[in-house]
Amino acid sequence: MERYIDAEELEALREVVAGQELWRGTRGNFVARFEEAMGQHLGRRYVYAVNSGTSANEAAVAGLGLSPGEEVICPATAPIFVSLPVFAVGCIPVFADVDPRTLIISPEGIEACLSERTKALVVVHLFGQPAPLGEIMEVAHRYHLRVVEDCAQAYDCYYRGRKAGTFGDVACFSLQQSKHITSGEGGFIATDDPKIYQRAVLYSNAGMPWYLYDLEPPQAAPMAGIPTRGHFAFGHNHRMSELQGAVAWAQLGKIERFHAARRTLVEIIEEELHDCPGLRLAHVYPDTRPNYWAYPVQLDPAETSLTAAEVHQLCQQEEGVGLGYYHEVNYLEAVFQQAQRERRTPFGLPLPEEVRYEPGLCPRAEEAAKRTIPISVHHGRDPEEVRRQVRALRNTLKRHI
Ligand SMILES: Cc1ncc(COP(=O)(O)O)c(C=O)c1O
Repeated sequence: MERYIDAEELEALREVVAGQELWRGTRGNFVARFEEAMGQHLGRRYVYAVNSGTSANEAAVAGLGLSPGEEVICPATAPIFVSLPVFAVGCIPVFADVDPRTLIISPEGIEACLSERTKALVVVHLFGQPAPLGEIMEVAHRYHLRVVEDCAQAYDCYYRGRKAGTFGDVACFSLQQSKHITSGEGGFIATDDPKIYQRAVLYSNAGMPWYLYDLEPPQAAPMAGIPTRGHFAFGHNHRMSELQGAVAWAQLGKIERFHAARRTLVEIIEEELHDCPGLRLAHVYPDTRPNYWAYPVQLDPAETSLTAAEVHQLCQQEEGVGLGYYHEVNYLEAVFQQAQRERRTPFGLPLPEEVRYEPGLCPRAEEAAKRTIPISVHHGRDPEEVRRQVRALRNTLKRHI
């Protein structure tokens, strides 16, 4: 295991402790430095850091200013941290089918679940594969949908030479331990739209307008002669702490080194598996440059009926090597099944008749999820350990195909 949290992070943390301010306060030192540096890194005007990627997803959707009961299209195959935030802001997640080669939301999938209440979509650049943004943005424009780009797994990957996270109305990122850079837990949104930034800040800061970027906050007014603090909207406290900000800032300074380490792991995987029976390497869309968070290989249904779960188990039994995990379909999780039974969201909003969360809803997603094996290419992984893991996968498949 390569050390990837080290002297730079310690030095920044020491500075925070020396300053005796562990929270971001109305401005923030390291948190604000991180936001500014990240804005420059990405090429977006406004960045707001929060305490997790899930909080960033919530802030991004809240930033769109949707009304309760409006619908937000989400990909069927993605971590549930993408769809639960839609419930949290009072909207209805509607699941679109995906391109089975990548598990990324497809333009046809989006079109198939539009209603008059559809206002936005979340495109997830899953595993660090940039989505085919040209087609997706075209569909979004045609139907006047706002676009959230979920880049939790996709720092610095490119579509037509431009970074993913700079195409939609707002992007959200995670800084959780496994991500391209980390502060343990953490996340942020990035946008060029001051209104989205302001709504996201209010939502994540209990309605208090602690804006940076010289944006004028409204002033609290006394009510019945009694002072008010100035809470202008509903919100949570999802603020990032200075401890997280210091680590995130130090990590950003090392991001290129981490990317290079992950590229080496991808080369090993492709070298070891390019001619592996029953397996397809990751599909890469034209005009895209992925920056993998996990490298997704897929079992080829023309050559094997084994599922990813079965291969994982065989590999574990016969080679003593695990493959990590396989992939999930949001609406099959118990929380969505409960919503389906009760015909209401966890916050009590009725589900429209056409909105279903049941097996068979997105057949391509369900089928492809069963045969997708994402292999972690975390920059902290030992290349030799990755080589052993993928050789074990290859040996297992050779025995069973
Ligand atoms: C695609 C995606 N979106 C959002 C999140 C939420 O991030 P966090 O775990 O930091 O809350 C994750 C987390 O793993 C993710 O993979």
